[in-house]
Amino acid sequence: MSYQQYVPYTPDEGRYDGRMPYRRCGKSGLKLPAISLGLWHNFGDITPFGVQQGILRAAFDCGITHFDLANNYGPPYGEAERNFGEHMKRDWRPFRDELVISTKAGYDMWKGPYGNDGSRKYLIASIDQSLKRMNLDYVDIFYHHRPDDGTPIEETMGALYDIVKSGKALYAGISNYNPEQTKRAVACMKEMGMHMLIHQPNYSMFNRSIEHGLTDVCREEGVGIMAFGPLAGGKLTGRYLNGIPADSRAGHDPRFLRPSDINEQLLATVRKLDEIAEARGQSLAQLALVWALRLPEVTSVLIGASRAEQVRENAKALENMKLTDEELAAIDAVLASR
Ligand SMILES: NC(=O)c1ccc[n+]([C@@H]2O[C@H](COP(=O)([O-])OP(=O)(O)OC[C@H]3O[C@@H](n4cnc5c(N)ncnc54)[C@H](OP(=O)(O)O)[C@@H]3O)[C@@H](O)[C@H]2O)c1
Repeated sequence: MSYQQYVPYTPDEGRYDGRMPYRRCGKSGLKLPAISLGLWHNFGDITPFGVQQGILRAAFDCGITHFDLANNYGPPYGEAERNFGEHMKRDWRPFRDELVISTKAGYDMWKGPYGNDGSRKYLIASIDQSLKRMNLDYVDIFYHHRPDDGTPIEETMGALYDIVKSGKALYAGISNYNPEQTKRAVACMKEMGMHMLIHQPNYSMFNRSIEHGLTDVCREEGVGIMAFGPLAGGKLTGRYLNGIPADSRAGHDPRFLRPSDINEQLLATVRKLDEIAEARGQSLAQLALVWALRLPEVTSVLIGASRAEQVRENAKALENMKLTDEELAAIDAVLASR
């Protein structure tokens, strides 16, 4: 990674003027911005440092106070955290107490039997590595990234508990757990006297599975929801309406969005949703975010961005968050017909 000459950053003085709502995360004291920024894509070694810096700065200027990482975000694994560590040094040190920074472990990270899944051995080694890469003393939220039925839940939750108790994280979370697994994890934490702050599931118009059980569990247990991928990786935007741009996710990173996913059937749905958005005076990306935020259980939507302008456009969604019954019915009808 080559670093460009440093241009000092002065955040927008108006960033807390109401442009960004802060929503309470379940039954906790922590408020999170309605939109959060994830560093899964576009923060590895293939994205210029200045582009990354522009995305982070634009986000904070819009009132986005939460950046989400994981141990293996890159490419290569660890690189997003390493780059974020450099961004911390350059821009964010003075604003550490205005930020909520999260990371995770649960997917494959390093070779051998201790760099994956849900063991205490893996999670405790991983948080130490993450803190070093990011130049941080602590993260605000540490997640177990995916359920691991091969490890006793007491062991995984015990590791999260100890990580919080040791001060390496302020809160604990889980990601990709189904309703039953969530109940068990929350109960286990409760038994140790700790509240599970947050769950991070996938949620968008194209994946509504959390509506069948998970939102109920989270509401009953007072666990906030950080809905990741609300734009379906870019499919729920105007990105692909005129073909596949070379600089788009489907254009350059087919591991996560195959060009074959951008087919006529998808585009027919996207065009209809785009018409509903246009009638509201919004872009499709903006409508997709407002739609996901309509659920009271959803604390925040966790977006990705490949450029600063996308962040600014997405944040403008919050200027019109009210969806009418007619609009909701029209969206349901489009989704049912696909
Ligand atoms: N817990 C988990 O297992 C898990 C899994 C996946 C993700 N996540 C988290 O969720 C975050 C977001 O995931 P995601 O990037 O897939 O989310 P997403 O918000 O659904 O998709 C982001 C992509 O949509 C496109 N986009 C964004 N705004 C746009 C706009 N206004 N107009 C046109 N295109 C726009 C960009 O694609 P282009 O690159 O094509 O411009 C961007 O990279 C990740 O960074 C990570 O923190 C968590």
